[in-house]
Order: sequence, then C-alpha cells, then structure tokens
Amino acid sequence: TEQTIQDELISSIRTIKDYPSEGILFRDITTLLGDARAFRRAVDALVQPWAGSKVDQVAGIEARGFILGGAVAHQVSSGFVPIRKKGKLPHETVRIAYSLEYGLDEMEMHKDAIRPGDRVIVVDDLIATGGTAEAACKLLRSMGANIEAAVFIVDLPDLGGRGKLEAMNVSVRTLVE
Ligand code: PRP
Ligand code: ADE
Repeated sequence: TEQTIQDELISSIRTIKDYPSEGILFRDITTLLGDARAFRRAVDALVQPWAGSKVDQVAGIEARGFILGGAVAHQVSSGFVPIRKKGKLPHETVRIAYSLEYGLDEMEMHKDAIRPGDRVIVVDDLIATGGTAEAACKLLRSMGANIEAAVFIVDLPDLGGRGKLEAMNVSVRTLVE
C-alpha cells in the first residue's frame, strides 16, 4: 500500500497525555524505534542531504538523541560525540544550563571531543522550544565546531524551536510535525 514516509513515521509515534507533567502531550518515539521499517526509514531520511559528503562527528543529545545519533553516525561513517546531562562524563567538560518545554537542566560535553573546524551534525528525536538543541549548538561552537545542521524526527512547530536555531544560523532538518 502507498504510504508516505511522513504518514508512516507519524503513525509509528505514540502520544501520551500529561507526561511528564500536566498539559504536556508527550510524543513517544519508542514505538517508532520498535518498528524496524520506520526506524530505518527515519535514519535514512535524516542523513539524506549528506550522502557522499564528509561529516566528521555526529553529536547526539542524551538520551533519545543517543539512540538515533549512533545509527546516524554509522550511516555517514562519522564519529559520535555524546552530549550528556551533567555529571556523567569522566574527563574535562564544558557545561551549559538550558530550559526545555517541561523543565530546566544542565548538559555537558568533553572538551577534547571536537577539533576546531570539524563538520558536525547535531541529532535529537524532537525539537520543542529548541532550548536543548540551542544549548548543544552553543557548546559545540564554543569548541570550534562547524555545525552542518541540527536534525530531528519530530518538530513541534507551535513551540518555536526551529526559529531559535535558525536565528543562530543553524540549519534545521525535521521529518514530521
Ligand atoms: C526531550 C527531547 C529533546 C528535548 C526537546 O528530552 O528528547 O532533547 O526534550 O525539548 P526542547 O526543544 O523544549 O528543549 P528530555 O530532556 O526529556 O530528555 P530525555 O531524552 O533524557 O528523555
Ligand atoms: N521534549 C520536549 N517536549 C516534548 C514532547 N511534547 N514530547 C516528547 N519530548 C519532548
């Protein structure tokens, strides 16, 4: 049967009301990850613009950005850089505080994870307010990264995240709204 990739991805994502707090419609991608065909199609679509071009590092944002980022890095034959919630990385780090749709947190990355001029793709499952991805891009740029793009399966367009990244000159690729 004919089904667009958008339809297939949307129907594989589950929505949970009032998680993690009241008023939030949580878009749960574990059901997409559990669907072999949807998972492969999502990863292939995310990296499509980089077919045949060189990417040095994929930076994945904990935790859901790790799952996708590992697959994306394999697909583009790059390294993988974990951007973690504070206190989890063992070596010297750079750290930044940020806010997201339902809270506040701090993230960090290893200082030596990026070489100045590295071409980097930032990966996460979803962009809402963009606070998380904006902070990740700031950390990466503070270490000299050249950000090719930030890519996400899901955009929640009412929350304005795309504009926040575009305002800092980061191109954004998303698959479904
Ligand atoms: C979610 C999601 C993004 C972020 C998006 O992560 O995976 O990282 O929120 O929100 P924003 O655009 O408003 O910043 P969360 O912090 O819930 O962490 P998790 O992946 O560990 O569940
Ligand atoms: N991260 C921020 N907002 C979210 C939402 N509504 N669903 C899933 N992850 C999110």
